[in-house]
Amino acid sequence: MASNIEIKYIEKSTIDSVDFSNLPFGSVFSDHMLECDFVNGEWKIPVIKPYTPITLDPSSKIFHYGQSIFEGMKAYKDSDENTMLFRPLENFKRLNKSAERLMIPAIPEAIFMDGLKKLLEIDNQWIPKNEGSSLYIRPFMFASGNGFHASPANAYKFVICTAPSGAYFAGKIKVLIEEKYARAANGGVGFAKAGGNYAAQFYPTQLAIEKGYNQVIWTDDNTHQYIEEAGAMNIFIRINNTLITSPTSDRILDGVTRKSIIQMSKDLNIDIEVRKISVSEVVAAAQNGSLKEMFGAGTAAVISPISGFGYQNKDYDLPELTKPYASLLKKAITDLQTNKTEDPYGWRVML
Ligand code: COI
Repeated sequence: MASNIEIKYIEKSTIDSVDFSNLPFGSVFSDHMLECDFVNGEWKIPVIKPYTPITLDPSSKIFHYGQSIFEGMKAYKDSDENTMLFRPLENFKRLNKSAERLMIPAIPEAIFMDGLKKLLEIDNQWIPKNEGSSLYIRPFMFASGNGFHASPANAYKFVICTAPSGAYFAGKIKVLIEEKYARAANGGVGFAKAGGNYAAQFYPTQLAIEKGYNQVIWTDDNTHQYIEEAGAMNIFIRINNTLITSPTSDRILDGVTRKSIIQMSKDLNIDIEVRKISVSEVVAAAQNGSLKEMFGAGTAAVISPISGFGYQNKDYDLPELTKPYASLLKKAITDLQTNKTEDPYGWRVML
């Protein structure tokens, strides 16, 4: 068991000011946060304390060199008020994979898991019960050590904040297939959840928004011929009755929702292929009517259907299906996450 955890309770909860029937995504924060410092070569005792600003030296390396990584997870409540997480160890492992690439010291499993469980126990009332809402959990680590030398810091912070949240996207999204900018390159940090990967998306995404799209479909940096990700999500494309998703690589995030969908598709007898998919294949399928669906997949948005895409100054619409795979898979995964169905995989972790 962890570790000691030092606990400082909030004097007065702010929960009464929250409208749980109308939650935005990630902008209302629960009473407490967990903070743990790495100093003098070791992780100190984690502290759970009221949600408060973090004070840093202006020369902290996070500000200058972006040495920062994060995870996205969710906690759910079923109708009997049981609390659960979905595959939390996958997030723990990926955080440390990102940490290694960004030269951030690995966080011990006991601090991550026991700290998270204790935080959820203390802020249990903040976990929404209503359908479509959950407690979004944001574990992150960054360089708090200071100095302008461009080298790894000597001090870090691991923090977990939580936010009761509703849907990430309001409806279907219209996307633009990117031909100039790239999200990631071979040998780079695309596979990691580095904060900078997301910051670098903002400008090309803004250009796409100005043209009337909601998100960018990322293509490979070398040729822009292959589809890689959808905004901050992995991507799935259905041609006829086959679902296709790009293989993970240096450039593609090993999404927990992505790999859960691959497994569940197999078990639902959906034909699924993990392979490179070219833009020309998708455009040809759109032209001959075999392109049935495209959707993004990630923790925050779960499954986000795409209504159409733009490519080389032409727009392509996707058909409205009565029983899309997107809805089938979204129901299957959220039912599993919220304890409405059996969990043959052992993915659900009851707290
Ligand atoms: C998630 O799906 O949790 C992500 O990490 C995407 C994030 C940018 C909201």
